[in-house]
Amino acid sequence: MSGVLSNPTVVDLFSGAGVFSLAFQDAGAQLVRAYELDEAAANTYRRNLGDHIVVGDVKAAHPEGRCDILIAGPPCQGFSTSGKRSADDPRNQLSRIVPIWAEKLQPQVIVIENVAPYLKSAVWEENRNTFERMGYHVEAFLVNALDFGVPQNRARSITICSKNDIPNLARPRRFKRKTVRDAFDGLGAREKPEMQHVWFQPTPLALERLSHVPPGGDIRNIAEKAPELVPKSWWKVRSKIIDIWGRLSWEGPSKTVKASFPHLSKGRYAHPEYDRLISIREAARLQSVPDGFHFTGTIYQCARQIGNCVPYKMGKAIATDVINSLN
Ligand SMILES: C[S@@+](CC[C@H](N)C(=O)[O-])C[C@H]1O[C@@H](n2cnc3c(N)ncnc32)[C@H](O)[C@@H]1O
Repeated sequence: MSGVLSNPTVVDLFSGAGVFSLAFQDAGAQLVRAYELDEAAANTYRRNLGDHIVVGDVKAAHPEGRCDILIAGPPCQGFSTSGKRSADDPRNQLSRIVPIWAEKLQPQVIVIENVAPYLKSAVWEENRNTFERMGYHVEAFLVNALDFGVPQNRARSITICSKNDIPNLARPRRFKRKTVRDAFDGLGAREKPEMQHVWFQPTPLALERLSHVPPGGDIRNIAEKAPELVPKSWWKVRSKIIDIWGRLSWEGPSKTVKASFPHLSKGRYAHPEYDRLISIREAARLQSVPDGFHFTGTIYQCARQIGNCVPYKMGKAIATDVINSLN
């Protein structure tokens, strides 16, 4: 086995905190360089993975370094069904960078992670044509973190462009399904700052609302038991938005963890049992990030890094398949 194949090099565009990079490192790859705009996310990367990160707009950076595998998680807000989806969102254009870098770095494989609707976008189609003209085979997969032993329902798309055979990421896996109970094991009711088991403190009014929500419940329980506590705005959109002020249930996975998880009003982010939001570490566990990985910044900055990241276990399974496909 040649050195390149046994210890392939990775460049990560839009690395965020570096959880996808970590997954490739743990699967046997060597991280060469990462590019990230956000200072706090880059600090997290540096602290956990090393100093080879370039902070700034990737559009202004110069592709360099040995690269067998190019990985990229371009911003997804413009494609996401949960955001204000827009074909004109300038962030959509960022994924056009990937073939430009591939042209310069000539990796064996390119792996692009994004939300599922990305595959229906004009930019994905254009990129596919460009990659094929460059001699890559291109395949896209819809995957769910649940199938990789992650305690979270998180659907994503993975696009693989390869000069070799493309691994079948959609094949059945043998991971045991995990629940919120599995994920939160040992964390408990009290804050443990040393483990980043800390949470944003909601207002007394928010906590009063939350006290009416049972495990698995949401704003409808507040409306039923304490209508006087329901925000006026909700009555206007009544029953259209129900998955807010929600509490997780112990038995089952969580819904998709987004960057907004320190807000009770933005989703299902209350602890199944205690009257509080989930902690930074609990959210990281829902993304199957190892406990030793430390996020840097304020609670909001950490939340953005966690909500943005590739679920670690899913990333590691994909990384293993990709590395094996080189051998
Ligand atoms: C979806 S996240 C990537 C998460 C990462 N793959 C992980 O597993 O942790 C996308 C990242 O792109 C970064 N980003 C957005 N625009 C950028 C730009 N112009 N140059 C570099 N990074 C950018 C964002 O700050 C964000 O951290």
